[in-house]
Amino acid sequence: MKIFIDSADIKEIKTVAELGVCDGVTTNPTLIAKSGQDFKTVLSEIVNIIPGPISAEVISLDSKGMIKEAEELVKLANSIVIKLPLTEEGLKACKYLNGKGIKTNVTLCFSVGQALLAAKSGATYVSPFIGRLDDIGEDGVNLIKEIKALYSANKVETKILAASIRSPRHVTDSFISGADVVTLPFKILLQLYTHPLTDKGLKQFIEDWKNSGQRSILAEKI
Ligand code: E4P
Repeated sequence: MKIFIDSADIKEIKTVAELGVCDGVTTNPTLIAKSGQDFKTVLSEIVNIIPGPISAEVISLDSKGMIKEAEELVKLANSIVIKLPLTEEGLKACKYLNGKGIKTNVTLCFSVGQALLAAKSGATYVSPFIGRLDDIGEDGVNLIKEIKALYSANKVETKILAASIRSPRHVTDSFISGADVVTLPFKILLQLYTHPLTDKGLKQFIEDWKNSGQRSILAEKI
């Protein structure tokens, strides 16, 4: 049960690193553009903050270009995973990179058939986008269940990385449905541990403590 952060914002990534629950990072061209920093600079910073897998996406549309980009990106760190689109060219590049021992994350997966082909191409991870499926009235979490059933029945090693997460419920439902990894935006990670009853309960505990006249265990040391 691994949690990745879906971000290229260094401040956010440092914050989740301190929290100690982040096993890796996924980026995409949109997130890199939002960071306002150069691609290589951002990635070089990220790999020094989080020791786990860091997905870096190619922007070429042909397999040759994707492979060339991948060969440059993996020079940045051993933890780099090459993110490839789930297209014919992306699958070709995936097969090639898998043969070279380079880890891949096949992204923009919206069907179980696509996930099947990603696995056949040797993808390390496949990324079903559950939020974007929900956006068009489909059931994103159900796709995770179907991919899990397919992979389990056929002893597939490709890991299911649930992406496009819109709510804390998406996170837990994805894990319950068999996702190996969930990558979530910073905002959703904060929502995962925030609960109004936790805040209310804590406030009450502190008030009761103060009113009782008790002293902190640390006060005795002074
Ligand atoms: C996954 O790797 C993608 O970067 C991401 O989850 C896309 O999410 P979005 O649909 O919120 O853009």
